[in-house]
Amino acid sequence: MIINFEEIDKKERYKIMSNSIVPRPIAWIVTQGEEVINLAPFSYFIPLSSEPPVVVVSIGHKADGSMKDTLKNILEHRKATICMVTSPLLEKMDKTAQPLPYSKSEVVEFEIETETILKEYPPIVKGTPCAFFCDFHSKIEIGGSTIPLILRISHYFNNNVERCELVGRVGKEYCVCKDRIWLTSS
Ligand SMILES: Cc1cc2nc3c(=O)[nH]c(=O)nc-3n(C[C@H](O)[C@H](O)[C@H](O)COP(=O)(O)O)c2cc1C
Repeated sequence: MIINFEEIDKKERYKIMSNSIVPRPIAWIVTQGEEVINLAPFSYFIPLSSEPPVVVVSIGHKADGSMKDTLKNILEHRKATICMVTSPLLEKMDKTAQPLPYSKSEVVEFEIETETILKEYPPIVKGTPCAFFCDFHSKIEIGGSTIPLILRISHYFNNNVERCELVGRVGKEYCVCKDRIWLTSS
């Protein structure tokens, strides 16, 4: 069967891509807003290169057409802290995908503890096994409402966790890496 991407709608394209390109890592991104700390997950996220050390994360817009808070904050403050997610953090991470008003912080709303590691960067989520402190590098124009941002890693934080069970995304479900094998919940 051949599917012409021009002939299917965006939901169908999302379904095909997110179930075939798997698992997608999850960047749980902490940013500083005008007044509050913002936290949200993004799985259109991948490393691009380790020399230079850069990742790409694609962030869209809210239903009202305004930029998602993470996108707005990165473009304005040019910093992002990317926390990796393990099973014990999964439920909280999933909650932070709820669209809150810009003035509200997910860390306050969902009682998520954070900790400042480097004072020039947003804090990490407490309990994350590792995190990347990043600077905004550039954005890529792809002609849609999603904006891929290139972020350059400046520092890495490791919480002395050796073989942690990182969570990834398959379609709209999650999977977990146990003993280097990805397992889905079903
Ligand atoms: C696991 C997961 C992955 C997600 N990946 C993306 C993504 O790659 N790009 C995107 O724009 N939204 C993604 N979302 C939706 C955002 O997390 C959601 O729109 C969130 O409200 C954005 O928050 P913000 O406005 O505080 O930045 C994802 C949600 C979940 C649960």
